[in-house]
Amino acid sequence: MERTFLMVKPDGVQRGLIGEVVKRFEQKGFQLVGAKLMQISREKAELHYAEHQGKPFFPGLVDFIISGPVFGMVWEGDQVIALSRTMIGKTNSLDALPGTIRGDYAVHTNLNIIHGSDSPESAQREISNFFSEQELITYTKPI
Ligand code: CMP
Repeated sequence: MERTFLMVKPDGVQRGLIGEVVKRFEQKGFQLVGAKLMQISREKAELHYAEHQGKPFFPGLVDFIISGPVFGMVWEGDQVIALSRTMIGKTNSLDALPGTIRGDYAVHTNLNIIHGSDSPESAQREISNFFSEQELITYTKPI
């Protein structure tokens, strides 16, 4: 069963969108196996966004992600990595279609509400950056 790391960013938390984001993934049929409100350290933020190190937007991105609490989650389900990226919508705000989270709630590429892992390797790395094994709970649904 595939797992992904999703994070409601500081703008999403401040705008009261945690519940809306969780609702969408629950209703899609994915299973929440871990979640917590976190004020992340600069060190963890730089590790999380390591692939963007050296890009012009990197310093601002790190400053933004540590500027306030984020809501980190681990979700489980068939093809959850690719399907959650579709539900989140494109990074560039001009390409994020209505019906997606970013398309419905974000105007700016920097303030884009939510992050989602883009590959199994990223998911593994991002989950272990923010969650211990003990914080992830596997359980069966009644149906
Ligand atoms: P996220 O999915 O969290 O991954 C990297 C983040 O960098 C992205 O969302 C955007 O919030 C931010 N970002 C800002 N400018 C760019 C850019 N030109 N290309 C990609 N990501 C960008």
